[in-house]
Parts: sequence; structure tokens; C-alpha cells
Amino acid sequence: MTQEITLLRPDDWHLHLRDGAMLQGVLPETARHFARAIIMPNLVPPVVTGAQAAAYRDRILAALPEGAVFEPLMTLYLTESTDAQDVAAAHASGLVKAVKLYPAGATTNSHGGVHDVDKVMPVLEKMAEIGLPLCVHGEVTTAEVDIFDREAVFIDTVLDPLRRRLPELRVVMEHITTEEGVAYARDGGETLGATITTHHLIINRNHLLVGGIKPHYYCLPVAKREKHRLALRAAATSGAGRFFLGTDSAPHVDAAKEQACGCAGCFTATNTMALLAHVFEEEGALDRLEAFTSLNGPAFYRLPANTARLRLVKQDQPQSWPEKIITEAGPVTVFNPGTPVHWAVEA
Ligand code: DOR
Ligand code: ZN
Repeated sequence: MTQEITLLRPDDWHLHLRDGAMLQGVLPETARHFARAIIMPNLVPPVVTGAQAAAYRDRILAALPEGAVFEPLMTLYLTESTDAQDVAAAHASGLVKAVKLYPAGATTNSHGGVHDVDKVMPVLEKMAEIGLPLCVHGEVTTAEVDIFDREAVFIDTVLDPLRRRLPELRVVMEHITTEEGVAYARDGGETLGATITTHHLIINRNHLLVGGIKPHYYCLPVAKREKHRLALRAAATSGAGRFFLGTDSAPHVDAAKEQACGCAGCFTATNTMALLAHVFEEEGALDRLEAFTSLNGPAFYRLPANTARLRLVKQDQPQSWPEKIITEAGPVTVFNPGTPVHWAVEA
């Protein structure tokens, strides 16, 4: 018997599109299935001002394939010199939907991020006042803290104190990877949301490290122990409004991944919807996939859900995708779940 499921068209609440030749090469992969995405601002140089976000949005729209219907939801990269008035104006015009906080040094192109939360309090206070969400890369960067503990320590030492200081601030915990992250988001009240990636539902740190290091499974926050992956699966498939899809699909050319100091990022734009159907079916939760991909995110961001639909069909044969997306910047390896997947998005 063929199994199939029809969903309201999904959105991706955390996406890296880059710029130039890479943008041109990867944008069709997202626009094929997703109606909207929150676009990460960690370009070189980063998207800091409203004017830069407007120009970047125009470059994304210009790179869309003929006939594609896709809306980029723009973000600003928070720095210690960000101007609260510029942020408020970019929000009031409808251009900017969130501001991204990268602790300085936490990940790709984050050196211009925030060292000291005190320095950005005027911007955060303005955001709390106008209801503009803060998307947080939740890892401390202190050398003494083990990389596998950085999310839990961030929650205790940075996020929770900030939310107590500014309870009205709407916060999205981006790409949570631990049971501590799940518990904090679950109990955090209606000003708190959390995105979960596709790849963190599929891999744990053994997949990354056992039998040889797998550069295409290296991302930040790094995949954790199995018990954390299971906590993420339980959260994503629970239907709880707090949790929604943010793929963190993050393209790097193979030459930058497959080297002595490889870049962080998994590229899942191409096969995310099929992989999620597989995961949700494994968890007996196909009926909650739509909440995760298409309903909870818009509700948190106070946007209408999409009206168009997307159909997924389970095939008898395992499905395949291109192993790599060939861009003019170079080849980008598509995330390989390492297991047969029978689901496909209907063309
Ligand atoms: O794995 C990651 N890649 N994590 C991030 O936080 C950034 C992203 C990127 O921009 O490559
Ligand atoms: Zn990211």
C-alpha cells in the first residue's frame, strides 16, 4: 500500500544561503520545497544594517529560478555597535523578522558577534518593546568549557540570566542539540521557541567519529550523545508549539569541508523533507510532521501559515538524491542519512 501525506507547505526557520555563486547554486534546493526561510546573516562581511539586509534580500530574489515562489525572511547580525533605531526601522518596514546573536567566535563568521551581552542591552530592550525575536546561537565559547557542554553552560550562564533580566524578549534557541536544551525550551513559556535541525534528529557523535572522521557530519553545535538525539526526536515529534524546523542547512564547498581544519555545516536543503518524513514515520508521528514543519514556526513568528501544499509519498524503492550539488563556487555534498529512505516529495 502506498503511504502518502499532504502538508501545508513548510518553512525553514534557520537557513544559510551565502552569496554570489554559492547562493545561485543552493537557493533552488530550498525554494523547491519551502515557501519561506529565515535567512542567516553570517556573510563576509555580515549583514548588520537594515540597508545591508535589503540589498541581500534583493540578491536572493534575483537568484531565484524562474517561476519559484519563495520569500526570504531577513535577519540582522547583532554586534556590539548595532544601532537600536536602525533595527527598529528595519522591523517596522516589514523587512527584518529577527536579529541573530552569535557569541563571538562560536561558529562560521562569528568573530564580529557579541562578547558582552551588557553592550547589546539597548538593542535587546528595543526588540523586547517591539516584539522582534532574537535568534540565539546558544553556545559559550570559553576555552575551558568542553565543546559537548557548551550548550548546557550557555543556558545556565547566559540565556537564563538574560531572560530573567528581560522577560518580554522573544527568543528562539537555534538548533538545540541536548536534552538540557529541550527541557529549557519546553518549560520556557510563550516567549521562547526552539528550532531543531534535520541532521541532529539523525546523527549522534558516533556517526561523526566512529570508523573515521566524517567531515560532512561536522556542524556546530556538534552532534551529541545518543540520549540527546532521542530527546530531540521526542521534542520534534511531540507536536508542542515550542519546537519547529530550522534546518541550519549550511553549504560549504567540499574543499573547505574535507581538509585538516574543516568547516562546520551540514547541507540538508535538498533532502530535508524526505528525511523528516522518514524520521517522523519511525517515531509513529507522521500526523505531527505538519506542526513541526508548517504550523509551529509561523505561529511563533506571528505570521500566517502557508496555504499551498506539499505531498510526500512513500515509495517501494529507496530514494536517492544527487550526491553533490554542483555550484560555480564548487561541489557541495548533500547530507547522507546513512540509511535507506523511501519517502520523496511529489514533483
Ligand atoms: O554548522 C554550522 N554551520 N553551524 C553554524 O552555526 C554556522 C553554520 C555555517 O554558517 O556554516
Ligand atoms: Zn546556522
